[in-house]
Order: sequence, then structure tokens, then C-alpha cells
Amino acid sequence: MRVHVDVTTVDVPEGATVLESVRAAGAELPALCHDDRVSPRGSCRTCLVGADGRVVAACTTPAVDGMRVSLADPVARGAARGALELVVSELPGRAWDVPAERSELVRACACFGIPTDRSARGGHQRGVDHSHPYVKLDRDLCIACGRCVAVCAEVQGTFALDLTGRGFDTVVTPGDGGSWVSSPCVGCGGCVDSCPTGALSEPGLLDPRPTTSTTTTTCGYCGVGCTLDVHVRDGEVAAVTPTRGAPVNRGHACVKGRFAHGFTRAEDRLTTPLVRRDGRLVPTTWDDAVRTVAHRLAAVRDRHGPDAIAMISSARATNEENYLAQKFVRTVIGTNNVDNCSRLCHAPSATGLSASFGLAGGTNPLDDLDHTDCVLLVGANPTDAHPVVGARIKQRVLAGARLVVVDPRRTELAALADVHLQAVPGSNVAVFNGLAHVLITEDHLDHDFLDRRTTGFDALAELVRDYPPDTTAEIAGVRAADLVAAARLFGQARHPAIVYGLGVTEHRHGTDGVRTLANLALLRGAVGTPGCCGILPLRGQNNVQGASDMGALPDLLPGYQPVTDAAVRDRFSAAWGRPVPERPGLRIPQMFDAAIAGEVRAIHVIGENVVQSDPNAEHVRAALRACDLVVCHDVFPSRTAEHADVVLPAASFLEKDGTFVNFDRRFQRVRPAVSPPGGAASDFAVLHRIAHALGADLGCPTPADALAECAALTPVFAGLSHQRLDAGGPLHWPCRAPDQPGEAVLHLDRFATPDGRAALAALPHLPPGEQPDGEFPYLLITGRRLEHHNTGSMTRRTPNAELLPAEALEIHPTDAAHLRVVDGADVTVTSRWGRAALTAHLTRDVVPGQVFAAFHFPGATVNDLTSPHTDTATGCPEYKVTAVQVRPGPP
Ligand code: FES
Repeated sequence: MRVHVDVTTVDVPEGATVLESVRAAGAELPALCHDDRVSPRGSCRTCLVGADGRVVAACTTPAVDGMRVSLADPVARGAARGALELVVSELPGRAWDVPAERSELVRACACFGIPTDRSARGGHQRGVDHSHPYVKLDRDLCIACGRCVAVCAEVQGTFALDLTGRGFDTVVTPGDGGSWVSSPCVGCGGCVDSCPTGALSEPGLLDPRPTTSTTTTTCGYCGVGCTLDVHVRDGEVAAVTPTRGAPVNRGHACVKGRFAHGFTRAEDRLTTPLVRRDGRLVPTTWDDAVRTVAHRLAAVRDRHGPDAIAMISSARATNEENYLAQKFVRTVIGTNNVDNCSRLCHAPSATGLSASFGLAGGTNPLDDLDHTDCVLLVGANPTDAHPVVGARIKQRVLAGARLVVVDPRRTELAALADVHLQAVPGSNVAVFNGLAHVLITEDHLDHDFLDRRTTGFDALAELVRDYPPDTTAEIAGVRAADLVAAARLFGQARHPAIVYGLGVTEHRHGTDGVRTLANLALLRGAVGTPGCCGILPLRGQNNVQGASDMGALPDLLPGYQPVTDAAVRDRFSAAWGRPVPERPGLRIPQMFDAAIAGEVRAIHVIGENVVQSDPNAEHVRAALRACDLVVCHDVFPSRTAEHADVVLPAASFLEKDGTFVNFDRRFQRVRPAVSPPGGAASDFAVLHRIAHALGADLGCPTPADALAECAALTPVFAGLSHQRLDAGGPLHWPCRAPDQPGEAVLHLDRFATPDGRAALAALPHLPPGEQPDGEFPYLLITGRRLEHHNTGSMTRRTPNAELLPAEALEIHPTDAAHLRVVDGADVTVTSRWGRAALTAHLTRDVVPGQVFAAFHFPGATVNDLTSPHTDTATGCPEYKVTAVQVRPGPP
């Protein structure tokens, strides 16, 4: 429809407001209580305009075709000015110290020509709340617009804030009126970003000095891939804000991406290469470090052959660094012994989704959750581990979508679920087969889809006859009625979505779990069809997807092209000028086994703290001790670096150029906002230097060149380039040509399997690697916390450590009473594989007989406990099931 705004005419969609029409016309109009992301409040009256002869609040008034809007309407303008003058009259002079770019209030006053008085003594002397390390409240700057309250409720879904008091005393208040830090606030920063006055601010923005540059980049924490604006002052990161309108996060973020950037200037950053001499790591020059690495790698290769060298590439590193790493190993060293930490998390997704659908990625974009009417959330705690996705799911549920959660713990989303199947760890395949049983017996099937686009239905139907609700309930420890209710919710939904995490993959039969979960989408025709919501695997680290996409895998070249395929090898060999070895290399757990067996003599680790993150830590330590050479790139000293012969100081994601691929297959640009400190350098630059010292030239001198080379060799990435991403923003892969958009939704015409059909999988439930017994009577589940990321090397060096300073063992009060353990008491946890000292946290979020801990803190040594059992198909460790005993007291 057409709307006339003063002398400009604009076309706006049906349903647009007058304010949206004004903005479409490029005109400025104060709107102090309005935020596009939340429902309009219409309370401040600063947006009054004339519209077809009436005075209306632009933010709440729908535009109509042919409407004439007058911003200069004297009655409207006078009333708006009066409303603003009333607001301003109550404010102290420091309100005008907030820079105009951060204060809509300052800009609004300028717009109306309202004088500002820095010496004004307004305000109600209500004081500040600086209790939270990140969110700072100056109550006297609060104008009670309610935007922060609305964002907390309607974007984040935490409902931590309210407006309290009356009249001019009205002020934002966290929680039940106590301090901000003791409120339910999750530190997403949404309130700070929306505040129009600076009443809510953050440490980096309280500094009145202007920032000098802003760089848009991609977050380096979890795999959601939020777009962030990094604001720099004096060469240091001053603040990070989510980019408004960004495709993935839509201007939202979490307490990690939004605030946890202080690690970049931590005092213990590695800034100088270290070489072990006389048993001690001592500083050295880059030339000496690179020469040492090259010389000793060459010695191992010459003496024991190339297969005696293994590299663990990094899911934290960029695509271009991973591309270069696997090229280095394959062409300079001459082995396929390269792997990345997706081995430890989502290798079963890659293998399982490839087997079912033909491609190793989630099938749909995050945006498709906007129209789902039922989410099946399995083995994932996204409000902690992927908070932006967690908030999006929560909003869908608040809007009426049904939610089924399969998780042994009562997570935040489980507490909101219509059905929570608290299945015993290790019983996923039984649960999925049981759900399939109900879908089939109650005929919640898309028969046409199954006939035309799948294979294997008869075998699946035959198998799941053995999983009626009673039988499944007994295996999984859930109620049969809940299982049936869950299947009906999923089966009767028009647009069911499946979101899953490591609770599906990190099992002895994790690949079977992925495949039997994929069955559920196929039975409903909920994947590869128009309007479907598909399957979304939530990736743990920022570039888990990309590290594998780039071929940092022992059996696959970039784009999942098999190294055993002679034609593929020939193509890469011709382009690289060196032969690609034919024999698949070792997976990470096999690398450690081979090191202990004396077959691998050198391990080169890029950006992973394997001693803390990998299972059965003593086995990992033994493997590193057995090597002749351990090389380690890292940002900080780590438990892995303690075993290294050479430690190379690495740049962090805020200091790098390249791309990441997020969990829904989007290539996104990573841009350096600041320089690495001291001598720290990107893994990209370091790999080039080591190759050069070994007499080789890896080509592709810049990250842009590396992606271009990868694209030229990989059909599914052929349309990707830095230039295109810079010009047009993120692109999904597959992206097969420079003039084609990426494929956000996969498999719409055919599945990528050889016959074009998806393969239903008839797979039985098999027991996990360990079961509780008399000696180890509890099941330990491991996972993540909101405040920290992975091994905590970045978040522990920020004020996030104030929000969560230590790890604790979650234990049910019944078990605690049996053990005579009180909340906060020391406990010793022992498994067949190791021991850990923790404090007890009594909670009913775990069921009796199960305990939970995260592995973010090196002192907690949780991965000393986890077992060497791995997924039978991929070698992914079984982090989610370890039999342990718990004893009161320290070790
Ligand atoms: Fe319209 Fe406040 S922005 S009334």
C-alpha cells in the first residue's frame, strides 16, 4: 500500500504502522518506548504525528492505503515536545553525558530543539545497581519506557525485569527487587541494547571516551554464529554488541558473545613462542620455534614415515585455517592423519545424516523455527549452550508451539515442555523407535512422501513392532503414556521441527541415534518438503561444521569428498601439485592409541585443549608423553600445552580474517577487530611458515585465496568467496555457482543419496558402554553451563568467572541424603578411569541415580572420569554415560 509522509510517498506492506512508514520514507521521528523487536507500548507519546487530520501515536497506529502523514503537524509536534519536556524535567544532568550515538533521548531532544542542561539536578537520587559485572543500572536515568522489560520477555524470554513504583518514581527493577546479579538475568545484554537513555549500560560503554572503530564479525563461541559489532578503543575491545538485523541472531546475543571479550587482553595470553629445553618451556623467537617444529617433524617423518605424524585441527579456527591444515598434512607431511574435534561431538551427525539424507549438515535454517508448531528437542540444553537458539525456541513455545523434550535432566526448556521424556542416558534409540512405533500404529504418516522419497519403510515397521510403548518405557525409564503423548504431539503437528544436540551423538551408538531420530522426520514428511522445518543439529563450537566441511577429517577431503575415491584424489593432487595419500588416516582417539603403541611419534594440535576436553584424560596424557614431538597452538597456557615441546602463541577469533560455518550451514565472515598481542599469530600464518621451513609452498597466501582454492575444488562450495560474502552477507552451502544463492533448505527435489531417496534406518536399541553397578552405582552425564564455553579458556578469563566461579556436581537430594552430603559439601567422584574432586549441588533437575557436571574448569578434571567407549561408527566418545561412585569429602 502507498503512504504519503510529508512530501515523500512510500510503498509499505499491509499491516505496517505509521512509524514504519515514516522510517521507510527516511524521516527521523523520536520513538522512545519503541523497539522493533517487541510489541509496541504506545506509552511515551514522543512519536505523535498528524495522520489524515488526526493526532496519532505512530508506533501503534496502522497505516492505511493513501494515508497522509504529517511530521510537522503543529498540534502533534507540540504534544510530543511537551511529553518529552516532561520526561527531561525529571532527569539529572548526567543524562546528557551519554554520547548521542548511544542515547535516543539525546537525539530526540536535538530533534525537538529541547535544550539540555548538564548541571541539572533532577532525578530522584535512587542510586545505581552495579552488582552485575556487565549490566549496570543508573536508576535516575530510567524513563520507565519499558523497552528493557519487553526485550527481556519477548526476545530473551527470561522475564527477569519489571517496572515498579508509581508516577515519576517508576523504575526498572530486576527479579524480586534485590540486586541485579542475584536476579534471574542471564546477561544477554538485550536490555542494555534497547535502553534509549543509558540508564542501562555496560562497563565498556560507561567510559565516555568515544570508540575509534567498529568491525562486524562472527562470534567465536558456540556454533549459532551470531553476527557481532566489535567496538574498539585504544587498540582494545571496548564493547561487543549484536548486529541489528543480522540474519542469524537478529540483534540478540548471549552472555558469552555479548560480554566475554576481556580474555583478549588477559595477562597470561601467550605472546611468545615457547620451546622445551632441559624439561622447561622457555621463550624463544618465531624463527627458532618454526625451525624447531620443521626440523623435528622432518626427523619423525624421515625416520618413521609420514603416518607417524598426526594433526588435530581446530573447530575454533577459521575455515581457511582448517583448509590449510589438512592441505599441509596431506601434501607437506604426506598422510591423512588429520582430524578435528567434531570427532568428539558431531561426527555421528555427519555420518548419520549422510547415511539418511546424503549430506552431512542440518537440513533447514534456524529461521524455519519461526513457523514450527511443535519442536522435538532432544539431548540439548540450548538456553545454556546455544542461548540465542534457546531464546528462539522459548518464544515459539510462548507463542503456542508444542514442545517435547527428551533429556535426562530437567533443563529450562524441559520445565516448559508439554511432555518431558526423562529417558535414562543411553536409551535414545529405544525412545526414537518407540516414537516411530506410535507414529506408525496410529498412522501419523505422510504416505505419499514415504512412497515417493524414501526407502526402508517395511524394515523399519517390522523392527519397531518390538518397541511398543510399554517395552520402550521400561528400557528408557519413562511413562508409556508420556511416550504416546509425545508421539501424538509430533505426529499431529503440521510443521514439526527436530532440534538436537550432543545428548544424541556422544554415545556408543550415537550414529544410530541420529539415524533413528531422522526416521521420525521422514515418517512425517517433515524434511525435504516445502514448508518443512527439518532437523537442526546444534553444534558446540563456533566452527565445528566448517572444520569438517574443509576436510580436516582423516577420510574426507573438503566438501566430504572421499579420500578413497581415485578421481577425487587425482583432482586435488593435480591442483595441489603433490599426491594426496590414498589410505584414510587416524581419528583422534586412534591417534592417542597409536601414540601409546609407538606408531604415532608426533602430534600437532591446533587450538584444542585435548587433555581437558577429551575423554579419559589420563590416556590422553599418556599418549602425549609417549610422543617424540608435541606441538601446540593456543591462545593461553593449557593442560595440553604442559605436555608440548613447542607452544605457538595463537590469535583469537577477534584478531583473525576468514570465515566460519555455523550450525545451519551458513558461511559467515570473520574479520579482525584488533591486532593479536605481542608475537601471537594466526594459525594461517603459522602453517605457512612451518610449510616454508619444510621446503614447501602451500599456495593461497591469503585467507580469501584459500577459500577460493577450496571452492574451485569442491562443487558444493563453488559459488563461495570472501568477495561475495562481503558484498551480500552470509550464504548457505551447498552454493554451487557464483550466481546461485545458497541452499538454505536441503533435499527439496531429491535427497543427496545415490538413488535420490532418503534411507529409513531399522536399527535396534543396544546398551551403552557402561551401566551402573554395585561398585559404580551412579550415572554421570556431562554437559555445558551458560556462563562458560568448552574448556573455559576464554570465559574463565572474563567476568563470566564471577557469574559462575566453579563447577559443581549436580546430585538429587535423595542420593545426597543417602550419602550424607549437604549442598556445597566436597565430594569425590570416581569412575573406572579416573577421579575428580567437586562440590555437591543438590537439585531435582537430575533424577536419583544420575549426576551431572560440566568440564569448563581444569581443576574439576571431569574428563578424568569419562570412559574410552566410543560410537561404534565414528569413534565419537561416550561423554554422556559414565558409571561412577560418589563419596563424601575430598580425595
Ligand atoms: Fe510511540 Fe512511545 S514510541 S508512544
